[in-house]
Amino acid sequence: RRLSLLLPASMSSSSTRTPESVVADADALARKVAAIRAAGAAKLQVIADFDGTLTRYWYDGCRGQSSHALLRQGNEEFDAKREELFEHYHPIEINPDILLPEKAKLMEEWWGKSHGLLIEGGLTREAINKSVADAPIAFRDGVVELFEFLEARDIPVLVFSAGLADVIEEVFRQKLHRSFKNIKIVSNRMVFNEEGRLVAFKGKTIHVLNKNEHSLDMAAPVDNSPEDPNGSTDDYSLVKKRTNVLLLGDHIGDLGMSDGLNYENRIAAGFLNTNIEKSLKDYSEAFDIVYLDDAPMWGVVELASDLC
Ligand code: TMP
Repeated sequence: RRLSLLLPASMSSSSTRTPESVVADADALARKVAAIRAAGAAKLQVIADFDGTLTRYWYDGCRGQSSHALLRQGNEEFDAKREELFEHYHPIEINPDILLPEKAKLMEEWWGKSHGLLIEGGLTREAINKSVADAPIAFRDGVVELFEFLEARDIPVLVFSAGLADVIEEVFRQKLHRSFKNIKIVSNRMVFNEEGRLVAFKGKTIHVLNKNEHSLDMAAPVDNSPEDPNGSTDDYSLVKKRTNVLLLGDHIGDLGMSDGLNYENRIAAGFLNTNIEKSLKDYSEAFDIVYLDDAPMWGVVELASDLC
């Protein structure tokens, strides 16, 4: 791929590129790195999207699955109904011509129906565990090393997703083979009965268009259950004091994940997984650094080590 053909004409003279990343304004990025480094690790937090950001976009030549898509309820009728919902609502999700308030209403409708089917179909924890074990899903190379680096420096990582918290946690358990005390998952969280069947979802639904609206405030009420050992409200008032942010996302909308935070400095790293020719200009204007071609996490590891 000849990146020079893809680079937006409007890039500043300080733009830089490597085979797998693009920085539109290297001077601005360097200033942010210096400011965050000067403030120290105690001021820094990481906010990351899950699907297509921490996980790979491609898996063995096919699209890697999201936390919703990988789920098999063990009940074909309900799986088929959720698939039908996807066929109907996903084109709406990606249609740029639908106004945001209208789209947000439709996304709420989709999440409501999908969660309803999971409950009605009696999803079990066992089905989640098996679905994850069978799923084509993998973390990017370097994710473990990034988490280890951040854990060693007590830097919290907030994983923010419109997917399913319980599925994401199972992906962490099965694919990382170890837990990290600094990682907190903020996503739609399930309530199971004594027989291990899903009976409800906790709190307000997080969908693709309100990941910004509630942001960190939605994290606070999540309880401190055994599967969610980091979930105390105290942690969250502390996190809010960490006013320097390294944000990782794969959609421009992911930039809204830090909206609940009155941050001082933010470095946004974006993974541009698809439609590179069409989207590189927008991505390189929105993100401080853009990683291309389903890049591994090594660039972010290096960036993080420049920050502290
Ligand atoms: P996120 O992982 O970027 O936060 O977004 C969640 C994705 O989940 C979003 O692109 C739509 C998708 N989704 C499904 O695949 N099936 C579903 O039933 C629902 C509600 C969402």
